Amino acid sequence: MIKQEYYIHPQQFNHEQNRRKGSYSHRRGKVTTRLFVKHGARAVVITDVQDDLGKNVAISIGSNVCTYIHCDIRDEAQVKSLVDSTVEIYGQLDIMFSNTGIMSKSEQKVLDFDMDEYDRVFAINVRGTAACVKHAARAMVEGQVKGNIICTASVLGRIGVLESTDYGMSKHAVITLMKSASKQLGQYGIRVNCVSPFVVATPCWNM
Ligand SMILES: NC(=O)c1ccc[n+]([C@@H]2O[C@H](COP(=O)([O-])OP(=O)(O)OC[C@H]3O[C@@H](n4cnc5c(N)ncnc54)[C@H](O)[C@@H]3O)[C@@H](O)[C@H]2O)c1
Repeated sequence: MIKQEYYIHPQQFNHEQNRRKGSYSHRRGKVTTRLFVKHGARAVVITDVQDDLGKNVAISIGSNVCTYIHCDIRDEAQVKSLVDSTVEIYGQLDIMFSNTGIMSKSEQKVLDFDMDEYDRVFAINVRGTAACVKHAARAMVEGQVKGNIICTASVLGRIGVLESTDYGMSKHAVITLMKSASKQLGQYGIRVNCVSPFVVATPCWNM
């Protein structure tokens, strides 16, 4: 069992995953999807709520290896369906890269917390990520797959910041989810890790 938090660029975390099949989400996801394919993934299922974007990424990578399935990770039933259909089509799930995450629309300083925004961020970053980990883990345990689950956290989950308080809190929760899941799933040979990137200008800053 490896329980570790990597502070690295996505390009670096793709060792040992050759000839495997995985399920995903975007922009950072697009780059990592290409890398998984480059390093030997036979089938990659990407997911998002932006269907045109997701379909275009799948087409650009190649429909022989990459398919897009709509999945709103706030809805556990959709996450389960995504995992079930991946297993049904490809036989098993080897890798879950749970990469979806959003920033709050407002500054979210403590004195001005917008609690609706807080709920929106937690519904995706925490609840949605937990659903992805849960259903990927269940599929791996049921299929006796010694797979890998990777979540995207953030440096902001480790440090206090002057704004985006809810985002940092949510990513701290992702790190704790990863630590707990790795302890619970190690007995099945399933490794759970997360990456904690620093700031990169992507659309997540505008959502
Ligand atoms: N960009 C940064 O500075 C930065 C830094 C640290 C961590 N991260 C994390 O990296 C991950 C990827 O973000 P990114 O920077 O590539 O931004 P991005 O906006 O390109 O990717 C996020 C994707 O999630 C999708 N999404 C939003 N809500 C969803 C939902 N309910 N269900 C399914 N998909 C949904 C969006 O449509 C988008 O395509 C996120 O978890 C983000 O928190 C980003």
